[in-house]
Amino acid sequence: MHEDDLDRAEEDYFSSLTIAEADGDDRAVEAALRPKTLDELIGQQRVREQLGLVLEAARQRERAPDHVLLSGPPGLGKTTLAMIIAAEMSAPLRITSGPAITHAGDLAAILSGLNEGEVLFVDEIHRMSRPAEEMLYLAMEDFRVDVVIGKGPGATAIPIDLPPFTLVGATTRAGLLPGPLRDRFGFTGHLELYDPADLELIVRRSAGLLDVTLKDDGAAEIAGRSRGTPRIANRLLRRVRDYAQVKADGTVTQQIAEKALDLYEVDPLGLDRLDLAVLDALCRRFGGGPVGISTLAVAVGEERETVEEVAEPFLVRTGFLARTPRGRVATPAAWEHLGLPVPANAEAAAWSRDTLWDEA
Ligand SMILES: Nc1ncnc2c1ncn2[C@@H]1O[C@H](COP(=O)(O)OP(=O)(O)O)[C@@H](O)[C@H]1O
Ligand SMILES: [Mg+2]
Repeated sequence: MHEDDLDRAEEDYFSSLTIAEADGDDRAVEAALRPKTLDELIGQQRVREQLGLVLEAARQRERAPDHVLLSGPPGLGKTTLAMIIAAEMSAPLRITSGPAITHAGDLAAILSGLNEGEVLFVDEIHRMSRPAEEMLYLAMEDFRVDVVIGKGPGATAIPIDLPPFTLVGATTRAGLLPGPLRDRFGFTGHLELYDPADLELIVRRSAGLLDVTLKDDGAAEIAGRSRGTPRIANRLLRRVRDYAQVKADGTVTQQIAEKALDLYEVDPLGLDRLDLAVLDALCRRFGGGPVGISTLAVAVGEERETVEEVAEPFLVRTGFLARTPRGRVATPAAWEHLGLPVPANAEAAAWSRDTLWDEA
C-alpha cells in the first residue's frame, strides 16, 4: 500500500470523528510533517527511549531488530514510528494493513517477497483474517511460510524460508490481539495521549515547517484543543492558519486561534462530536451511569470498539468519564461541561474534581 492510500484510509476512519475534513492537500501536508528520526519525535519519552535501545542494540549486532508492536489511539504516531524504525535501520519499508490481507495467500505473497532486513509494517494488525494470522506466527518465529499449492485432499504445503525481517504491527488496542500473536513481538510500545506541553511543541514545529507565524499563546490555544492527539493538533493548526490568512495578517495569536476554532466548532477542551455524544448519552439518557460500554455504544450509534478506543481514552484522561467495575460513570465535571446541573445523589459525585487532568 502506498503511503498516500494509508493516509487516506486513516482519514476516512478519522474524518467522521473530527470537524476538519481533510483534502488531498492536507494529506500531503500531513506526510510532510512526520518526524523522520527518533530524535525528531516529540513526547512519548518512554517509548522513544525503549525503542531507541532496541534499535541501537540491533544496529550493534548488525541484525534485524525484534518485531515491534505499537498500540494506541489513532493519530498518536504509530505509522510515523514504523517509518522511523525503517529509517533508523536504513532498511526499506513495506506497508500493508490487516483489512487488506483477506486471504493467507495475500500475506504469503508479501512475506515471500521480503528482502533481508526489510521492515514490514502491518497497520490495524488486529483486523487480519484468522488464517493469515496463523501464517504470521510461523513467519515471525521461524522465518518460514508454508505455501499451499492446490486444493482439497491433493493440496500440499511447500515451506519457504524467509530472510530475517522486522515486523512492525500497529493496533488501536493491544488487548484486541490474540495472545499468541502478541507474544511473538519482542517489544510493545504503548503510545499515550500527549500532554498539552508536548502538543505545543508539535504545533510549533509544524508551524515552522509550514511557514506559519505562530505566537506562543496561539500555539497553547491550539494544543489545548487537540484532544491529546498530534494529528488533530496539526489539522487545527492548518485551519487556524487559513483563518489568520483570510481574516487577519496571517499571524496566529491566541485571539485568532480562539476565533477560528470557535468557528470550526472545536470544543474549548477539544472534545469532538463522538466525545460529546458519549457524554451526552451518559448524562442525559443514563443519568450519569453506571452503564455498560456496549449499551453506551448503541446509544451513540457507534461500534463498541470505536467508543472504547477513540472516545474513552480522552474522556478518562480529561476526567469526564470513569471506568468502574459496574460500568461507565460521568464525573461532576462532565455534567458541568455539558452545562447540566450535577445531580446530588449521583454515584458520580464520589469523583472529586481534584482528580481531573488540569488542561486549561
Ligand atoms: N511525536 C510526534 N511528534 C511530532 N509529530 C507527530 C508525532 N506523532 C505524530 N505526529 C504527527 O501526527 C500525524 C499522525 O501520526 P500517525 O503516525 O499517522 O498516527 P497513527 O498512525 O498512530 O494514527 C503525523 O502526520 C505526524 O506528523
Ligand atoms: Mg497510522
